[in-house]
Amino acid sequence: MIRTVSNADRVQGTPTPPGDKSISHRAVLLNSLTSGSAHVSNFCEGDDRTAMLGCLRGLGISIKRIQHTDGRTCSDCFYVRGRGPNGLREPDHVLNAGNSGTTMRLVTGLLAAQPFFSVISGDKSLRARPMDRVVRPLAKMGARIMGRGQDALAPLAIRGGGLKGIEYHMPVASAQLKSALLIAGLYADGTTTVVEPAPSRDHTERMLKAMGADVKTDGPAISVDRSDLFSMDVWVPGDISNSAFWMVLAACHPNASLRISRVGINPTRTGIIDVLKEMGVKMRLENIHEDAGEPSADLIVESSQLKGIEIGGDIIPRVIDEIPILALAATFAEGRTVIRDAHELRLKESDRIAATAEGLNRMGASIEERTDGLVIEGGSKLTGTQVDGHGDHRIAMTMGIAGTLASGQTTVTGAEAASISYPRFWDELGVVTGNPVPVSAGTESADR
Ligand code: S3P
Repeated sequence: MIRTVSNADRVQGTPTPPGDKSISHRAVLLNSLTSGSAHVSNFCEGDDRTAMLGCLRGLGISIKRIQHTDGRTCSDCFYVRGRGPNGLREPDHVLNAGNSGTTMRLVTGLLAAQPFFSVISGDKSLRARPMDRVVRPLAKMGARIMGRGQDALAPLAIRGGGLKGIEYHMPVASAQLKSALLIAGLYADGTTTVVEPAPSRDHTERMLKAMGADVKTDGPAISVDRSDLFSMDVWVPGDISNSAFWMVLAACHPNASLRISRVGINPTRTGIIDVLKEMGVKMRLENIHEDAGEPSADLIVESSQLKGIEIGGDIIPRVIDEIPILALAATFAEGRTVIRDAHELRLKESDRIAATAEGLNRMGASIEERTDGLVIEGGSKLTGTQVDGHGDHRIAMTMGIAGTLASGQTTVTGAEAASISYPRFWDELGVVTGNPVPVSAGTESADR
């Protein structure tokens, strides 16, 4: 699918990004393990949600859309009926994690603890992403897991159960890895401790604590003991990673003001706010709230003069999903921006270092690739041309925002990838810019 994006004269309005994907996934997965039932509302949208819900349903969990009294269904409200900690059933088919790394890694942690056989796989992109980072420690805990490439790649075949707790020093700051081990640790004999090299998003720990699990945090070490969970209703705040597209659009456009409502501002996710503020972006937070242990706020962002900065070290895990759109912001900044320590970006849905540099350079940016990041010379003028989404939602949306800021028209091929996490993205872009974003048929990215 191709989307044609035009330069916008003005950017204004109140885009409403979907519920946070990381929190949504944890809310349904953890509620599935309780003996109660729960409502999860403002649930994330898109194909990744289908992947997580499909895997849990494949394990026997009932997850239904909530019906209002007038018979209408709420598209982002779900009712989860748990089956208790030991109530999952052996799936009779391969579980399909689609394009979702979070689904595959968190569900693998869960399957490693179940006394049955299961197989989990995903689309072409996911089957190329490293799963050894979860397989190795789960095997140390006692699970038997086999996969392609010496057990590093999906499909993964898992015979779980009989786990014992371990202390594991994580080689990468990955919330998916940490969460997989903590979920497995709920079922293990003894204590499971994970030690992080740098802080990654802590939604799992927060939710586990709020649901009554025996979780302790001691600096970089997070420990869990065998625990039963209580069910918990969750209202999911807006996704800060999807909000980042609107933040950068408003900051870089000369005639812009956007209000993004009820965005999650968990401190392990707000690297994008810290970085944009350091770059000089005019942004304020209003209506700060907290729901189910997760803070949220309205973000108001206006046209700003940006300056280049250096981004690296411990902030990287707090901004990892926003680096492609940050690179776009850096092309509008005065001076050079250097992004380093971000090698993990090469292992996402696409090689995001290469895809970001390739797409934005085609439009006239000056970006040099490094093994672990990007060097961006600011002050380039972007010109509309044809760019590709590389089958990656964050790249497709970054190119859409770049097209809105570039002169002329930009055609984004593979634009359908946005539906992985933000199916309404192109329509909302049309609304805030006042320019509808026409769609035309094109070659779809392979095997999505
Ligand atoms: C996620 C963690 C991050 C992030 C991904 C979602 C999560 O991955 O990139 O989009 O929900 O735990 P890693 O933890 O593997 O870096």
